[in-house]
Amino acid sequence: MGGIILLLSQCHPDKKEYIVYKSKPQHLIDSFNRLSRSEQVKVCGSCHQQALLNEQLGPHANSFLKLREHLEFIKSDAYNDSCYVNSVKKRAPYCDGCHTSVNVYETLLLKLNKNQDSLPSLLKLLRLPLEARIGAEEGLKTGDDCLSCHYDGKNVVTNFNFKRNFNADCPSYCNPVGSKLFSSNTNCITCHTEETTRMSPTIAGKKVETNCLKCHQEYDNTGKSTHYIYWRNDSSNKPKPSRLIIFEDITAQYNTSNNQVIVSWNNSRLPHPLTLCTEHAAHFEVKDSVGNILGSGDIVLNRKKEYDSTLKPFYSKNKLPGKEGYQLPIDGTAINDTIPLLQKPHSPLIVTITGTQKAQYWFPNSFKKTIYQRAIVLPSKQ
Ligand code: HEC
Ligand code: HEC
Ligand code: HEC
Ligand code: HEC
Ligand code: HEC
Repeated sequence: MGGIILLLSQCHPDKKEYIVYKSKPQHLIDSFNRLSRSEQVKVCGSCHQQALLNEQLGPHANSFLKLREHLEFIKSDAYNDSCYVNSVKKRAPYCDGCHTSVNVYETLLLKLNKNQDSLPSLLKLLRLPLEARIGAEEGLKTGDDCLSCHYDGKNVVTNFNFKRNFNADCPSYCNPVGSKLFSSNTNCITCHTEETTRMSPTIAGKKVETNCLKCHQEYDNTGKSTHYIYWRNDSSNKPKPSRLIIFEDITAQYNTSNNQVIVSWNNSRLPHPLTLCTEHAAHFEVKDSVGNILGSGDIVLNRKKEYDSTLKPFYSKNKLPGKEGYQLPIDGTAINDTIPLLQKPHSPLIVTITGTQKAQYWFPNSFKKTIYQRAIVLPSKQ
C-alpha cells in the first residue's frame, strides 16, 4: 500500500490531474496504438512541430539510419575486415537495443516506478534486449523516437514540474504526466549507462554541470530548450557551443632552453568518459612566421585498450584494429606531447591545432572528419 501511495504522489502530484487523466476517452488511445510507428511520430509532430523538426536533425531520430549505413558499408567491397563484420553479425540484437525505436519508458522506467525498484536492479534489466512496442521493421526506421522516451503506452511522460493546463486541447494519447525518472538523467541511462553512472560532479576540482541536457541540448536566445541535441553530424546551421568543444582546452608553451614546444590537452568541460568506440585526435604543427614547419605532433583520444577485450574473441590470432590512444582524465591531469623543433626560431611561433573525429577508432583514416581548427602564437624568447 505504501508503494502505491508513493507511486501516485510521484506520477500524479495532485488528485485533480489523476481524475482528468482517468476520464480521457480510451478509444483514441486504442486507435493511436494501432497506427504504425512512423505514423505515430507524425501525429505527435503535428502538434509539436519544433520538437519534431529538431528531433529529426539530431542523433536519436537518425540512430537506426546510421546503424544501417554502417551495416551496408561493412558489407560492401570498400571494407574487408571480416573479423569485425563477423563480430557485428553476432551482436546485431545488442545493437538494436540502443539504435532502434525501443520503448524505454514503457518497458523499463515504468516498471521501475511500479515496483519501486532500485537503480541497481534497473541496471540489471538493462542487460536484456529492450522491447519495441510495435516491433515491425517499418517501425524501426524512426530510430529512438518520441515514443521511446515519452510514452508509457497510455500517457505522455514529461518533466516532473510540468503544470497541466486543463483547457489545453490534448488528445487522450498525449495527456502529459510528470515523472521524476523522466526529469533526471535516469531518462538517458538505458543507452548511456556509462555517462550517467560515471558522471563526475567536479572536473579538476571545480564544480560542473551534471544534467545531460544542460550541456547537450540547444537553447534559444530566451534560454528555452529547443529539443535539438548536438551530435557528431550537426548541420552547418547548428554549430556546437564552446561548452561542448573539448579541443578548446588545449594549450601550448615554448621552452627555449631545450627548443621544444609542449602541447597540453587539459579538461574543463567533459565530466564523463568518452564512449568506447570514438576517436578524437588533435594534430599539431609548429611553424615560424614565414611558414617553415619546425615540428609536429599528435594527441589521440580513444579507448582501444578497453574495447580490445570486446573485439578479441572475434579476431583470434589476427591483429586487433586501431592505434591506442589516451582517455581524457577528469581529475585534472593534462595529456602532454613534446614537439622538438628542427632549428632555433627567430620569430614568434605559430602552433596550429587541427581537431578530427571518428565514430569508430578502428575505421580507416578516410573516415576522419576535421571539426576544429585554431592557431596559438608563442613568443620565441621567454
Ligand atoms: C492534437 C495536438 C497534440 C498531439 C497530437 C500531441 N500533443 Fe502533446 N501536447 C499537446 C498540448 C496542447 C499540450 C499542452 C498540455 C498542457 O499544457 O496541459 C501537450 C503537451 C505535451 C508535452 C509536455 C510539454 C512540456 O512542456 O513538458 C509533451 C512532452 C508532449 N505533449 C508530447 C507529445 C507526444 C510524444 C505526442 C505523441 C504521442 C503528443 N504530444 C501528441 C497537444 C498535442
Ligand atoms: C548501449 C547503447 C548502444 C549499443 C548497444 C550500440 N550503440 Fe552504437 N552508438 C551508441 C551511442 C551513444 C553512439 C554515439 C556516440 C558514439 O559514437 O559512441 C553510437 C554511435 C554509433 C555509430 C556512429 C553513427 C554516426 O552517427 O556516425 C555507429 C555506426 C554505431 N553506433 C554502430 C553500432 C553497432 C554496429 C552496434 C552493435 C555492435 C552498436 N552501435 C551498439 C550507443 C549504442
Ligand atoms: C531521447 C529522448 C527523447 C526523444 C527521442 C524525444 N524527447 Fe521530447 N523531451 C525529452 C526530454 C528529456 C525533455 C525535457 C527537456 C528539458 O527538460 O529541457 C523533452 C521535452 C519535450 C517537450 C517539451 C518542450 C521542450 O521542447 O522542451 C515536447 C513537446 C517534446 N519533448 C516532444 C517530443 C516529440 C514530439 C518527440 C518526437 C518527435 C520527442 N519529444 C522525442 C526527451 C526526448
Ligand atoms: C533508446 C536509447 C537512447 C536513449 C534513451 C538516449 N539516447 Fe542518446 N543516443 C542513442 C544512440 C543510439 C545514439 C547514437 C546515434 C547515432 O549517431 O547513430 C545517441 C546519441 C546521443 C548523443 C550524440 C553523441 C555524438 O556526439 O554523436 C548525445 C549527446 C545523446 N545521445 C544524449 C542523450 C541524452 C541527454 C539522453 C537523455 C535525455 C539520451 N541521449 C537518451 C541512444 C539513446
Ligand atoms: C558539463 C557538460 C556535460 C554534461 C553534464 C554531460 N556531457 Fe556529454 N559531453 C560533454 C562534452 C564536452 C562532450 C564532448 C563533445 C564532443 O566531442 O562532441 C560530451 C560527449 C558526449 C557524448 C559523445 C561521446 C563520444 O565519445 O563522442 C555522449 C554520447 C554524451 N556526451 C552523453 C551524455 C549524457 C548521456 C550525459 C548525462 C548522463 C552527459 N553527456 C552529460 C559534456 C557534458
